[in-house]
Amino acid sequence: MPLMPQFSKDLLSWFKKYAREMPWRGEKNPYKIWLSEIMLQQTQVDTVRPYYERWLKKFPTVASVARAKEDEVLKLWEGLGYYARCRNFQKACQQVVKDFNGKVPSRLEDLKTLKGIGPYTLAAVGSIAFGHVVACIDGNIKRVIARVLALDVPPSQGLLQIETFLNKNISKKYPGTFNEALMDLGATICVPKNPKCLICPVQKHCKAFETKTVDVYPKPEKKLERPHYQIAVGVVWKGNKILVSKRKSKGLLGGLWEFPGGKIQKGETSAACAAREVKEEVGVDVEVGSSIGKIKHQFTHFSIEMEAFVCKYMKGRPRAIECEAWKWIQLQEISNFAFPKANHKLFPKLPKTNPFLRGRKSDPLFKM
Ligand code: ADE
Ligand code: SF4
Repeated sequence: MPLMPQFSKDLLSWFKKYAREMPWRGEKNPYKIWLSEIMLQQTQVDTVRPYYERWLKKFPTVASVARAKEDEVLKLWEGLGYYARCRNFQKACQQVVKDFNGKVPSRLEDLKTLKGIGPYTLAAVGSIAFGHVVACIDGNIKRVIARVLALDVPPSQGLLQIETFLNKNISKKYPGTFNEALMDLGATICVPKNPKCLICPVQKHCKAFETKTVDVYPKPEKKLERPHYQIAVGVVWKGNKILVSKRKSKGLLGGLWEFPGGKIQKGETSAACAAREVKEEVGVDVEVGSSIGKIKHQFTHFSIEMEAFVCKYMKGRPRAIECEAWKWIQLQEISNFAFPKANHKLFPKLPKTNPFLRGRKSDPLFKM
């Protein structure tokens, strides 16, 4: 594995001049650096900016996160995706209060014990906030180094070589800056398609450039099949209220609120599915009304098509069967709850009042 003392120097002098401006850059407060790195996992810088600012206004310290309600932190995270990051971050803040006196620990062994801090975040926070000499490896950095080394296998199979290169060449004096510089290089110069090799600061260290084979690196990973699911949900009306349920805290979208629903089974109509899922999740009998519409949504590992139906409440007191909680709410209150993006796509299609009651103020349910 080549030791190239000039690699880090060239990268750092480029970064000095061309570093992207970000609200957490130059930050000394480890809590803020940690927060930014959690938000930046799987999420673009421009998406993160407003979330980061809003979050810090409401939660300026570790302690403020630790004592918040989970619904409150999730509401601020609403739309960022990967909600486990948020729940884990809150748990980790509680750990910091309990085990480290409210001060983000500086030792890597301590940081590692915090919920949600995996190898990437450990390296990012460890190097940027505390100056530890540890290399970050994310998707962008893998691509850059796969090209620099002309790595002959897909990055996931060549991790050891990538790590070895980074550990040899990381700046011992400015490890955090080195890591951020590589991230910026991957985001602005060594981009996936048509990398800007002609203005690249590490061009003369790049094997792919030297051999004019930039276009064949990184070697492609084997693509996984992404399943597609058909979903139906019910917007259950009772008087002037609708029924929402809170997802169990484990797993995808855990802790978020939604309209009860689920996967359509073989041979089942979407309307029948909505009724069945409402019954299974919250134990309520409904009569399914008209379709509100269909939306599509892409997740990382699968995609869904979701149809929503207005439903008329018939009988049964809701129970949290396949959910963590349930609530009858007025439509105007919906913005107080954190909903997944796919549900948000339905909001504009929702009827503003109970469609089963129109012009029937004598309906005994109307005053509920
Ligand atoms: N992505 C994740 N962390 C980052 C950082 N500190 N700077 C730029 N992009 C990032
Ligand atoms: Fe990436 Fe091109 Fe720079 Fe090599 S020369 S690191 S391929 S941008």
